[in-house]
Amino acid sequence: MQSDSFGIIGYGKMGSSIVKGAIKSALFDPSDVMVYDLDPSRVTAAASTGLRVVKSLDEMASCSQLLVAVKPKDVPALAERLKVMMLMRGVLVISIAAGIKLSNLESRLGEDARIIRVMPNIAAAVAEAASVYVANRNATKQDITFASKLLNGIGVAYLIEDESMIDAVTGLSGSGPAYFFYMMKALEEVGRRSGLPAPLVRSLVSQTCKGAGAMAVSSPEPFDQLIRFVASPGGTTEEALKVIESKGVSSAIIDAAAAAIEKSKRMNY
Ligand SMILES: NC(=O)c1ccc[n+]([C@@H]2O[C@H](COP(=O)([O-])OP(=O)(O)OC[C@H]3O[C@@H](n4cnc5c(N)ncnc54)[C@H](OP(=O)(O)O)[C@@H]3O)[C@@H](O)[C@H]2O)c1
Repeated sequence: MQSDSFGIIGYGKMGSSIVKGAIKSALFDPSDVMVYDLDPSRVTAAASTGLRVVKSLDEMASCSQLLVAVKPKDVPALAERLKVMMLMRGVLVISIAAGIKLSNLESRLGEDARIIRVMPNIAAAVAEAASVYVANRNATKQDITFASKLLNGIGVAYLIEDESMIDAVTGLSGSGPAYFFYMMKALEEVGRRSGLPAPLVRSLVSQTCKGAGAMAVSSPEPFDQLIRFVASPGGTTEEALKVIESKGVSSAIIDAAAAAIEKSKRMNY
């Protein structure tokens, strides 16, 4: 029998981030979320936040929506089990697995399965994710509304119709937080070399990234203009930008994200 429970299979980095974000945004009460994970440490983490942890996959049969948040390599076997359990009747399956196409999921879960594929990012943990999602032909309006509520509750989310756009999204916003963390790590090194106290550096770097992001989100100005707001002629920022440009940082970032996009295309199956 189905309940209104939302089920998560795989309470790892992304699964737990999405749940934390959804609870932070009051989308669910912890007691309405069922969790199944093979890793005992994840199970303990889920139980400690008041989530309903189950010991067997079969117990997830009562959920109305299932978020599949295991690594892509673990999806095929899991999907076969879900099909065997005949779970798919009346259950919306939301997959966040990178590279696993709707057609692949349908072939494993059944042609009549209702499926939504999402590319979220790790900032779901603080309800600041950027997600893109695509629904298969069986997904109902209510399914799309549910996904929209869930994903907009943990950040911003965009529904797309062309599934092939997910590769570019993966290279931009799926992997994107790591690009910014990488730059923050480099700035942290600058703080260390300058002899500033580590906690002060951590706070300055993090808040600067958050502030720049908040300005970019709220301002209609092009990024070039935002750069000009900081870089007055003959000033310190202009000096830094000259070095950034001479070292080809922009093309390195473009090449890096392009490599992620190509990898995503190769991973597709
Ligand atoms: N991390 C990101 O930034 C990011 C961004 C966008 C999308 N994604 C997608 O999110 C998904 C999850 O990634 P992640 O980084 O969160 O992985 P993760 O931290 O490794 O978490 C996956 C969890 O699922 C468990 N698991 C594996 N097979 C299972 C099964 N059959 N039933 C129940 N639990 C199972 C794993 O346990 P074991 O460790 O014991 O196997 C692990 O605890 C991936 O498909 C990835 O492509 C991740």
